[in-house]
Amino acid sequence: MSTTDSSLQTVRISLAERSYDIRIGSGQLSDPLAWQGLPKASAALIVSNETVAPLYLERCRQQLLGHYARVDAVLLRDGEQYKDWDSLNQIFDTLLRTASDRKTVLVALGGGVIGDMTGFAAAVYMRGVPFVQVPTTLLSQVDSSVGGKTAINHPLGKNMLGAFYQPERVIADLDTLDTLPERELSAGLAEVIKYGPIADAEFLTWIEAHIDALRARDKGALAYAVKRSCEIKAWVVGQDEREQGLRAILNFGHTFGHAIETGLGYGNWLHGEAVGCGMVLASDLSVRKGLMPADFLPRMRRVIERAGLPVTAPKLGLQRYLELMRVDKKAEGGEIRFVLIEALGKAGMHGADEALVDAVLQAHCA
Ligand code: NAD
Ligand code: GLY
Repeated sequence: MSTTDSSLQTVRISLAERSYDIRIGSGQLSDPLAWQGLPKASAALIVSNETVAPLYLERCRQQLLGHYARVDAVLLRDGEQYKDWDSLNQIFDTLLRTASDRKTVLVALGGGVIGDMTGFAAAVYMRGVPFVQVPTTLLSQVDSSVGGKTAINHPLGKNMLGAFYQPERVIADLDTLDTLPERELSAGLAEVIKYGPIADAEFLTWIEAHIDALRARDKGALAYAVKRSCEIKAWVVGQDEREQGLRAILNFGHTFGHAIETGLGYGNWLHGEAVGCGMVLASDLSVRKGLMPADFLPRMRRVIERAGLPVTAPKLGLQRYLELMRVDKKAEGGEIRFVLIEALGKAGMHGADEALVDAVLQAHCA
């Protein structure tokens, strides 16, 4: 198992008429081929934020000007705490102020927050306009830009308002990861690690062997990690686009993780940090339920820690955790449902007694 080179690789999301390509590689932002064949329209609107725009907006705009007579931009405030109605309305305000028609192409330039909000705006504006994902964080390249989940947060629950709406294309330029803060790179690694235990035991072994190279931003290692992650996500989404069953496995670590994010207030812990720590708790629950051998927990904790992620959860108290986890989208009739590992490379949905959840929290909260 080796790394791969960082020239273009393409992963296909196969969803009949909603199929599309994920283009992964160095230099994609500046490669005219990456931007060819997008839907025809007179205008495009780039949605980005105040951090990403100074770095990449002009390159993106120049490419789009080769295809659209008008290219506008709207810059939102940066942060998970702004993944809300106000930011969404800013997109709609711009679209309406510029008299954008129903063919206008939205382009999400940024991380998962921008991608999720732009996708939701595209799903809703005039009942649906095309959109393109240009993910610039590791997390968005391996997960959020792919598969069509779009959303904003509600103060009472993470990603509670949204739509399934697929992009026309994903353009993942690995060079954008050069400017990513270290903490954000680690957050992205959480979602990379996730794919191992849920779907590919060999990939987990590969990640363990390459975690230092990934943190050092070795392009070959990053290229392989993004490609393999997208392949696994494509395999899952291709079978269950709207999360009727299988797709829920992509939420390994997210039930505890979303509770941490919402409980601490959006933006305190990064999404990837909460997911990383959530995977430690969910791994422990998998062991305590007798699904996995005891050595699975230290193995997961070690790789998550080596990725630079927190492995100790905040002490919110059992009742608060339960209250937060009951708002999770996977909960059914008030029963909290966890994605647990059943064998390396295989996950499933499980309930858990309060006493078991309490034991897990006691073991990992401080
Ligand atoms: P983010 O969008 O907040 O980006 C992280 C930070 O990095 C931000 O400050 C951003 O401005 C900055 N940034 C982005 N690209 C940069 C670059 N190239 N150089 C320097 N700085 C850069 O966070 P994220 O981790 O990308 O995404 C998290 C969000 O994704 C959460 O809201 C989560 O719910 C969502 N998510 C969605 C899905 C999905 O399937 N739709 C999956 C996973 C996560
Ligand atoms: N990130 C979870 C999903 O796309 O289903």
